[in-house]
Amino acid sequence: MKKVKVKVVGIMMMVNFFIYIVVEVSRSGGQDKSSSSKVHIPAKRFWKKPVPFDAYWNREQQTLDYIHNPILAVLNGSISSFLDSVSSTTTTANGSSLNGCDPDISVTTQVKDYNSLPERFKDFLLYMKCRTYPMVVNQPHKCKDHPFLLLAVKSLAPHFDRRQAIRESWGKAGKLGNMTVTTVFLLGNATAVDHFPNLSKMLEYESKMYGDILMWDYRDSFFNLTIKEVLFLQWVNEYCSKAQFVFKGDDDVFVNTYRILEYLKGLQHPKSKDLFIGDVITNAGPHRDKKLKYFIPESIFVGPYPPYAGGGGFLYSGSLALRLYNMSQQVSLYPIDDVYTGMCLKKLGLVPEKHKGFRTFDIEEKYRNNPCAYKGLMLVHSRTPQEMIKIWSWLNDPELNCQ
Ligand SMILES: *[C@@H]1O[C@H](CO)[C@@H](O)[C@H](O)[C@H]1NC(C)=O
Ligand SMILES: *[C@@H]1O[C@H](CO)[C@@H](O)[C@H](O)[C@H]1NC(C)=O
Ligand SMILES: *[C@@H]1O[C@H](CO)[C@@H](O)[C@H](O)[C@H]1NC(C)=O
Ligand SMILES: *[C@@H]1O[C@H](CO)[C@@H](O)[C@H](O)[C@H]1NC(C)=O
Ligand SMILES: *[C@@H]1O[C@H](CO)[C@@H](O)[C@H](O)[C@H]1NC(C)=O
Ligand SMILES: *[C@@H]1O[C@H](CO)[C@@H](O)[C@H](O)[C@H]1NC(C)=O
Repeated sequence: MKKVKVKVVGIMMMVNFFIYIVVEVSRSGGQDKSSSSKVHIPAKRFWKKPVPFDAYWNREQQTLDYIHNPILAVLNGSISSFLDSVSSTTTTANGSSLNGCDPDISVTTQVKDYNSLPERFKDFLLYMKCRTYPMVVNQPHKCKDHPFLLLAVKSLAPHFDRRQAIRESWGKAGKLGNMTVTTVFLLGNATAVDHFPNLSKMLEYESKMYGDILMWDYRDSFFNLTIKEVLFLQWVNEYCSKAQFVFKGDDDVFVNTYRILEYLKGLQHPKSKDLFIGDVITNAGPHRDKKLKYFIPESIFVGPYPPYAGGGGFLYSGSLALRLYNMSQQVSLYPIDDVYTGMCLKKLGLVPEKHKGFRTFDIEEKYRNNPCAYKGLMLVHSRTPQEMIKIWSWLNDPELNCQ
């Protein structure tokens, strides 16, 4: 026992001695007495020179990261030289880009296999820097009574029956219990370019009738769903910032709104601020098989995907919606919308949480006609308009007894 004590005291003394030496050395470090009070700034770069990525998205993101890095922002000289070395885009050093809504011809040379890419990639790349599109149908007072839950449904102009089925079932707006639920449908412009019939009069009628259509003037395509996401978050910021929770999903899912409200009611306050749940996919990355819908070429993106919740539907807090919108300004648009949301969450330092009530890959076939199978679920994909109405009637049946 005693020996150990002596040893410990010995070590302590040595440590003290070293500290003394270190302090002394640093005190006498500056020979030049007049400069010893100044902070020493190295004349040359002391960090590794960043190597620009080959993949276009990664390179664009690197640029945005530089612009928004609060430490490097002080050194604006080195930023512009970095930016010059990375790309010749319209981005300027103070963070504003020259709007970027004219087609960005520079991508034709910046993406090395641009000419051999499928058309949808060319369309995406040419307009990747544009985030502002005019709103053609708005409902500015939709959230005046501060909804507890805002249901936002991604839809397409011709899907009249899906929207109507949602209005008559899980998206029925109004009060459920003492909680206000508000539903909106998110639309772009289904244009003649994509061989959509001209439905503008019918949409006008629908919008007048129900007052739940939000529509922006951009081409409503799969790769533009990220635009839909960013424009929606912007709309929440501007017109619905008091919503406590937001559900965003597709128009071919069934949502058990009762179950969602019950879940939200049971949340404790500090936890609910960062709420983001859904069918979370982890350890995924871009598909390289050209035949897949989710194919992304290596010239556009490399690296793993962050954890993300499948775009069929996810649930998050209103406070997080505001932070996501803020952060989206610092994340380059990515052609797959749910991955993009995952990227924004990651930048906020958050991880979406998997909840087993979100069944984007459906439930076992043998349970699909069992009303009780839907009681405990939050979302099932996919369901037709008729199935939505049927399942909703099951959930509202006072006779339904599930044990
Ligand atoms: C930083 O930017 C400002 C304004 O753009 C400019 O006046 C200044 O000279 C720049 N500083 C350096 C170190 O380049
Ligand atoms: C609804 O009522 C319950 C009590 O029945 C209460 O705890 C809850 O805060 C109320 N919710 C809202 C949104 O008013
Ligand atoms: C939608 O696209 C068509 C072209 O296909 C255009 O004429 C129209 O102005 C666009 N905007 C709206 C709101 O319909
Ligand atoms: C679609 O139809 C409406 C009403 O008939 C018309 O005003 C509009 O110009 C048409 N749009 C296009 C792109 O043809
Ligand atoms: C997205 O929308 C813009 C604006 O309408 C359009 O120019 C662009 O081609 C669209 N991108 C895709 C991938 O469809
Ligand atoms: C969004 O960003 C602005 C400026 O960067 C900041 O003042 C504001 O508090 C942020 N809002 C949220 C909800 O994070």
